[in-house]
Amino acid sequence: MTKIIDGKEFAGKIRGQVKEDSDLLFKDHKVQPCLAVVLVGENPASKVYVGAKTKMAAECNIKTKDFKMNEDTDQDTLLKTIKDLNDDSSVHGILVQLPLPKQIDERAVIDAIDVKKDVDGFHAINAGRLSIGGDMLKQAFIPCTPLGSLLLLKNTVQNLSGMNAVVVGRSNIVGKPMSQLLIEESCTVTVVHSRTKDIESICSKADIVIAAVGRPEMIKSHWIKKDAVIIDVGINRVPTTKPDGSEGSKIVGDVDYQDTFEKCSAITPVPGGVGPMTIACLLRNTVTSAYRHSGLEDPRGTVST
Ligand code: GUN
Repeated sequence: MTKIIDGKEFAGKIRGQVKEDSDLLFKDHKVQPCLAVVLVGENPASKVYVGAKTKMAAECNIKTKDFKMNEDTDQDTLLKTIKDLNDDSSVHGILVQLPLPKQIDERAVIDAIDVKKDVDGFHAINAGRLSIGGDMLKQAFIPCTPLGSLLLLKNTVQNLSGMNAVVVGRSNIVGKPMSQLLIEESCTVTVVHSRTKDIESICSKADIVIAAVGRPEMIKSHWIKKDAVIIDVGINRVPTTKPDGSEGSKIVGDVDYQDTFEKCSAITPVPGGVGPMTIACLLRNTVTSAYRHSGLEDPRGTVST
């Protein structure tokens, strides 16, 4: 029987703990965790994600400060906003929603965020800490989507050590940090991407497949080894035609869920798999940051491995 890995339920549990820890910090130290959310432009998917992050933060008693900036915002204006947030001691986490409009240098913006407030874990120093691993992870923030994916995986597979994991995609947001987290778990990790030769045959030898390419339903059953575990990070909107002939759309992953379902031993659905975990981990990182800024240890420890 294939297990459906329920990210929605698991993320709900994490948010419950986040709320408890947020409430405790306020009760004992009068500090309310605060996340600044910066959205530049009108990207519809980004608007949806930012809305969901703000709503769930409120449910965990995390304050948010929203900064909505025009599509034509220049880099210096954005950098000034980030400097102000770095200097604002009531703000514990800063999130700049990606992608940014093309006139803005994404790397310059990310690295302008105070590394201690970089709850996305994208700053070069946090990326470096993750790459080094070990004790360095205790000071780091780990990117939320790979962290959420790893937590789901660890809740599904008893011992990851020695397993063959294939990460499909090499982005800085998911593929690269995911591969480093899996190395930290003593997996044997292969990262495949658009230039990889014979990608299907490499995937078909994997005990674990992490799909993070952004191509709807690309991964089919013949890519998958019998009883592999699949974590589908993809969130792709595709057009549909309803029975009455009208046009609609739906969200699908990078994995063909129907096609691979019988072949694998466990799979994350889309929606309801990794997506909710990303937000839960962002909120966790924000509360961790608020504890660190108050000179305290997060009672839950750094959410890592
Ligand atoms: N765009 C897609 N995923 C993410 C994420 O995890 N954080 C931010 N800031 N932007 C994103």
